[in-house]
Amino acid sequence: MALLELPQRIIYGPGSIDQLPIEAVAFGKKFSFFCGESSLKKSGFFNKILNSLDKYGLEIQVISGITPEPDIPSVNDLLNRVKTYNPDGIIAIGGGSVIDSAKIVSALIATNKNIFELRGKEIEEALPIIAAPTTAGTGSEATRFAVVTDPEIRDKFLLFGKALIPKVAIVDPELTFTMSIIIASATGIDALCHAIESFLSRSSTPYTDIWAKEAIETLWNNLVPAIIENSISSKEKVSYAAFWAGVAINNTKTTLVHAMSRPLGGVYNVIHGIANGILLPAYLRYNAPFIPHEKMNYLKSLMGGYPPEKVEGLLQKLNLPTRLSQVIRGEIDIQLLVNKAKDAQMNISNNIRQVKEEDIYALYEEVL
Ligand SMILES: [Fe+2]
Repeated sequence: MALLELPQRIIYGPGSIDQLPIEAVAFGKKFSFFCGESSLKKSGFFNKILNSLDKYGLEIQVISGITPEPDIPSVNDLLNRVKTYNPDGIIAIGGGSVIDSAKIVSALIATNKNIFELRGKEIEEALPIIAAPTTAGTGSEATRFAVVTDPEIRDKFLLFGKALIPKVAIVDPELTFTMSIIIASATGIDALCHAIESFLSRSSTPYTDIWAKEAIETLWNNLVPAIIENSISSKEKVSYAAFWAGVAINNTKTTLVHAMSRPLGGVYNVIHGIANGILLPAYLRYNAPFIPHEKMNYLKSLMGGYPPEKVEGLLQKLNLPTRLSQVIRGEIDIQLLVNKAKDAQMNISNNIRQVKEEDIYALYEEVL
């Protein structure tokens, strides 16, 4: 049995953010508006969006400056601010961290539970979320997942549930045009990982493969022109592809790359997309003998050669690190990483090759 899940409404295209107030009024009058540090303000969208919400008579609590990679104390702080305002829903315009923070806060309010009570169980209630990504990669606007860091145990974990899928996803590529090269590269590779991991996962289906293949092809052909050559039409395509890669993983889940990258973020603060990029070639090499011929041939012909090597070439073209030693100073505790990675059973058991603990160890060693 398979089930396909998507946001209730998907609005995309340049200028689609103008639809935000029309979408919001369907959910109520009062909204908390989550956004990040500065990029929305720098691009001029911040004032434009607030004015458009005001024109529709919506009451807005602005919560700006949401920090990257949400952790439990910062989420609880956001929760206290939103709770006293008592909104009808949350508007989240930002990168994956902003959208994930909105998801977690909306679930905490609607369920009246704490993060630990929500962990490991399907979340069934949350305030409505309208999400518009300002990066092209995390796919959070399309998914039932949110990642949070627990600083006490230096680990990241997933919260999940259908209620976390934004009710409306607005994918306006123009919101992504002010990304720095490093953020564009890291989030772009994260999207490529989503698409490839979905395509090669145990839970892939002919339907999820349609989204995954579309995303893999579009990202493969457009990441370099979008990021290095500043091509507007490629930036637009990357923005759509990142969304469809998000839809793909929403329906299949991710696999070993994400299981192994999460502790790299939790323990050593490696940026999510950077960690995924470092792991992707090793993951492909490890899984290669187990990838169905048809899928391997598809990847080979698209990439013009053996996928692990071609992906390494892409990382180099994007000036992204390919080794952990480039992003972590000092000793790396591989066993600690392995212990944490193997906790991500949902992702590990979804990997096409059956993963043993020593395999995870060897893969971390391979990318040192
Ligand atoms: Fe990711």
